[in-house]
Amino acid sequence: MGTSDLPSCAPMATLLFGFCLVSLLPEFAAGITRHYTFNIMYQNVTRLCHTRSIISVNGRFPGPRLVAREGDRVVVKVVNHVSNNVTIHWHGVRQLTSGWADGPAYVTQCPIQTGQSYTYNFTITGQRGTLLWHAHISWLRSTLYGPIIIFPKRNESYPFRKPHKEIPILFGEWFNVDPEAIINQSLQTGAGPNVSDAYTINGFPGPLYNCSSQDIYKLKVKPGKTYLLRLINAALNDELFFSIANHNLTVVEADAVYVKPFNTDKLLITPGQTTNVLLKTKPYFPNATFLMEARPYFTGRGTFDNSTTAGILRYKRPSNLSSSKKLPLFKPTLPAINATNFVANFTRKFRSLASAKYPANVPLKVDKKFFFTVGLGTNPCPKNTTCQGPTNTTKFAASVNNVSFALPSIAILQSYFFGQNNGVYTADFPINPPIPFNYTGTPPNNTNVSNGTRTVVLRFNTSVELVLQDTSILGAESHPLHLHGYNFFVVGLGFGNYDPNNDPKKFNLVDPMQRNTAGVPAGGWIAIRFFADNPGVWLMHCHLDVHTSWGLRMAWIVLDGPQPNQKLPPPPSDLPQC
Ligand code: C2O
Repeated sequence: MGTSDLPSCAPMATLLFGFCLVSLLPEFAAGITRHYTFNIMYQNVTRLCHTRSIISVNGRFPGPRLVAREGDRVVVKVVNHVSNNVTIHWHGVRQLTSGWADGPAYVTQCPIQTGQSYTYNFTITGQRGTLLWHAHISWLRSTLYGPIIIFPKRNESYPFRKPHKEIPILFGEWFNVDPEAIINQSLQTGAGPNVSDAYTINGFPGPLYNCSSQDIYKLKVKPGKTYLLRLINAALNDELFFSIANHNLTVVEADAVYVKPFNTDKLLITPGQTTNVLLKTKPYFPNATFLMEARPYFTGRGTFDNSTTAGILRYKRPSNLSSSKKLPLFKPTLPAINATNFVANFTRKFRSLASAKYPANVPLKVDKKFFFTVGLGTNPCPKNTTCQGPTNTTKFAASVNNVSFALPSIAILQSYFFGQNNGVYTADFPINPPIPFNYTGTPPNNTNVSNGTRTVVLRFNTSVELVLQDTSILGAESHPLHLHGYNFFVVGLGFGNYDPNNDPKKFNLVDPMQRNTAGVPAGGWIAIRFFADNPGVWLMHCHLDVHTSWGLRMAWIVLDGPQPNQKLPPPPSDLPQC
């Protein structure tokens, strides 16, 4: 790994462009400090012949790369120049005792208001690979997202052969209209929100859409080389299948954790997940170009964007080949839209390295067990009005253990830390479903959820087992669940209702995959385990933003431990106020 992989630029360039700086401080074994400035600003972007003023970081779409090595400190000054409130979340960064820098609005911080700034300051500890940053308020993530690239420490290497080149591949969703208007309208009428107009690869919809000839991502490669593709799903509401025609991929890392390498020609990536794959190019010039495609995996009942984004994989021509010859174009085959079996089989292939160097510290004994149902439900429509939810007297809602989580008006972490609860939240989140029922069977008559800001309080270092059970109340549907502040081990996965007597016998406690975002299968469950070793307030939610907006979220409060390095320090002085 050479230093050429890292950005370097003069301090003046940083002042001018704000997106690139390598600290001038001497390097300590513990890592260096990397400073970034994120100016949140408007930028005109044209896709599919529609020009929209989007909210961007530094005028770029997708946003700039954040690059660091394991052990480095990252300092990002976020300055808000737009009229919306903004926060940024460093998705998957563990934020050990730096919960003030996590970013979810009204959970760890009040939003950064127009004209204000906040400096996120955190150290990357024990992680290497790919993550993503994104806005964490309303639907601003639709255009505010970018890669986090974490290289191994200076004297360390990858547990696989050093690739010739590394390329971030970000999936997103493009809307011809302002997504804020879409979600605001949906929350008002109770209807499902309008769907996106296209999926994107590195911001480009690709050639399968109308009016897209300017909007194609092209990856140029040389024959006989290995490329590391850093796949990131930043799409708002859709899990995606991905494949490159006539090429195999080797999965080597997920959510900034190495995995036992495995080969596949198609994969699934949910919003919030990252997957590093090795692409070995053909040993010769293939006389063809190849499409890489992504399109949704969808199990719900509503409407969704059933389109396909594509980019082009093109080989550099040998100089003796005329460039006028048009090459044939090969297309990949992707699984069916609702290929739940493919997804389950693919998910089961992920295994931790579980080596001496990268052990899998799975909690073997469990202090606290939780059983949470996740899924959709309804809220009644306000009196004397009609709504456009599942019926005209209901609005769509979503819940965990039938609690639809309401964001408070000041940040929970602030209120917790300063002991000024004043009804901001309660500590009585149900550890089991309030009324057990046949979760994946005939739905109950009453589909209404309850509403509240309820949390679970955990003692420092509690070992937690959590079963996440999908419900079929409004139709079985897969939910990519994301936990802030932690990686967890997925020790079990199954279909139907979780069986507490027999299913634990099949748990993998040896080399389960470790992630920050895992799909709860449509009509099934997953069991996860983690040590609550990071004090703070940590959001857990479905990473389909429409479900988050409907309340499919909750928060864990993890208390300080006895040692000084097990306590959450006071907030930085520029922490935004509500
Ligand atoms: Cu990537 Cu709470 O989010």
